[in-house]
Amino acid sequence: MLSQSQVNLIRGSASLLAEGNVAVTQAFYDNLFAAAPGVRKLFSEDMFDQSEKLWNSIVTVVESAKDLGEIEDELLAMGARHVRYGALPEHYPVVNEILIATIASIAGDTWTNDHQDAWQAALGAVTSLMIQGATEDAG
Ligand code: HEM
Repeated sequence: MLSQSQVNLIRGSASLLAEGNVAVTQAFYDNLFAAAPGVRKLFSEDMFDQSEKLWNSIVTVVESAKDLGEIEDELLAMGARHVRYGALPEHYPVVNEILIATIASIAGDTWTNDHQDAWQAALGAVTSLMIQGATEDAG
């Protein structure tokens, strides 16, 4: 569960991200494929639609940050679908780290350790539900 001040920090950085959403998602995938070249083949050649889906996910997480339980079923199901995309549990921390680093680089001087902790808490909760959904699907 995130504190109210963490929710506020996430909302604050999200409004900044909304100004450059295409740049954010493109930078994210560039950084991801540079850090983990092996995952490139899991995605289609044309990343345009994928970037939009990622953007929508970020928006959903931001909107639900106060109570991720609201989207729990959605996240479990999404985790189960990710098994079929070839996503492995060990990919999730990499994705989280790169997503946060990308957001931080766009936030620039306004980024603080508290922002880092708030995003880590939110994405950590999202990915642990996705991994749980993936495991239940496999079992
Ligand atoms: C924060 C965690 C993540 C979120 C919010 C997320 C979000 C999404 C969404 C919304 C889709 C669209 C399809 C659907 O809803 O089922 C998708 C597809 C996909 N995701 Fe993720 N994802 C996450 C983590 C990962 C990880 C760790 C990997 C592994 C490398 C991954 C690889 C993929 C692939 C390969 C597709 C399908 C692409 C295609 O259809 O070509 N995702 N993701």
